[in-house]
Amino acid sequence: MDKLAIEGGVPLAGEIVISGAKNAALPILCAALLTSGTMTFSNLPHLRDVATLLKLLAQMGVRVTQEPDAVMSLDASGLDNPCAPYDLVKTMRASILVLGPLLARCGEARVSLPGGCAIGARPVDQHIKGLQAMGAEIQVEQGYIHARAGRLRGARVCTDMVTVTGTENLMMAASLAEGETIIENAAREPEVVDLANCLARMGARILGAGTDVIRVHGVERLIGAAYAVMPDRIETGTYLCAAAVTGGRVRLVNTAAATLDSVIDKLMEAGCDIQLAPEAICLQAPARLKSVSLRTAPYPAFPTDMQAQFMAINCVADGVASIRETIFENRFMHVAELQRLGADIQIEGNNAIVRGVASLQGANVMATDLRASASLAVAALAARGETLIDRIYHLDRGYEDMAEKLSRLGAKVRRI
Ligand code: UD1
Repeated sequence: MDKLAIEGGVPLAGEIVISGAKNAALPILCAALLTSGTMTFSNLPHLRDVATLLKLLAQMGVRVTQEPDAVMSLDASGLDNPCAPYDLVKTMRASILVLGPLLARCGEARVSLPGGCAIGARPVDQHIKGLQAMGAEIQVEQGYIHARAGRLRGARVCTDMVTVTGTENLMMAASLAEGETIIENAAREPEVVDLANCLARMGARILGAGTDVIRVHGVERLIGAAYAVMPDRIETGTYLCAAAVTGGRVRLVNTAAATLDSVIDKLMEAGCDIQLAPEAICLQAPARLKSVSLRTAPYPAFPTDMQAQFMAINCVADGVASIRETIFENRFMHVAELQRLGADIQIEGNNAIVRGVASLQGANVMATDLRASASLAVAALAARGETLIDRIYHLDRGYEDMAEKLSRLGAKVRRI
């Protein structure tokens, strides 16, 4: 199993290119199921989750072709197996994103329940509730969701909580339904907007993406289109934290500063000087960061996917920070590992109190989930001595070439 060895203490400096967004790429690739036309995608990140999804789509009869210039084409005209088996779904919860498109295009779908994961129970009841409102008959048996429908009908759906993939699943299903679907309490994440923009290129009629009420006027068919995936705001935020914690100065390009307001605000509060251009962000860190308290919540508030990385920077900041996690019930798995590096963190329910220490010391640590791994890398960059991070397959799910990108910024990193 691959490990990452990081020798801390080097201020990061230089420029790197941000990859396409994992959380936009996954739903957008699923949108290819909605058409018999050929979709061509650019700016797809090279990640394990993307490879897993392509494997899943190929198994359903989708032809996946790597074209020149890093373009990937997907042709779902031969879609003949609307089934997502457990062995693939269990490795990636986002596989649930095939449910809406399969049902809308094939009139049936058999998708494994994603099951639990390290950061909590993560049910999919809202996806099911929304599709039922659109006329689907759904049974959950032997760990599988069996869904059937004639043509889906437009409906008014108000989700009980803000769900990102739930909103995306319903938006995709609704784009081929008969009549208008109104999704209330919709997620406003930029990745939802990116999916809506892709669907619009395919001929879908969607209004309100980026607000909490999305209206989808269903059409009879969608057509093939070309689409470039948005930049990854969480990858961007992670490298900003890495630069901040090392007292570095970096420039990140091919990113979208406008999708990172809450993260940038917190980094400025921590004492970083940040300069923004439409597609680039420059960060200059202070000699020592100030602690910043935060509370995660749906977009545009502070993202849960950046909580662990900010926990890491608070470990060595000046002061005491309170970090409250409101989205997932078990998203403090990184705390025990950060403590192995010498961090002073106390957990009370969904609140973590982080007292900044003068320095962390390298140690052997274990990655437990994707963003937890990122926080360990951030902390390791600030620690004295070498940190060995085990189980970095979690990191490979969501960060393209992290070791290479960090090396380009001068970090002492080896993949073992
Ligand atoms: C997406 C992101 C993930 C991010 C999360 C929250 C993708 C592929 N993944 O995950 O990186 O951390 O948003 O920003 O985009 N819930 C239910 N029932 C449902 C659906 C959700 O109870 O049917 C709950 C979840 O357990 C969680 C909360 O709602 O507590 C939000 O989850 P959701 O937004 O659905 O997360 P994902 O879409 O899975």
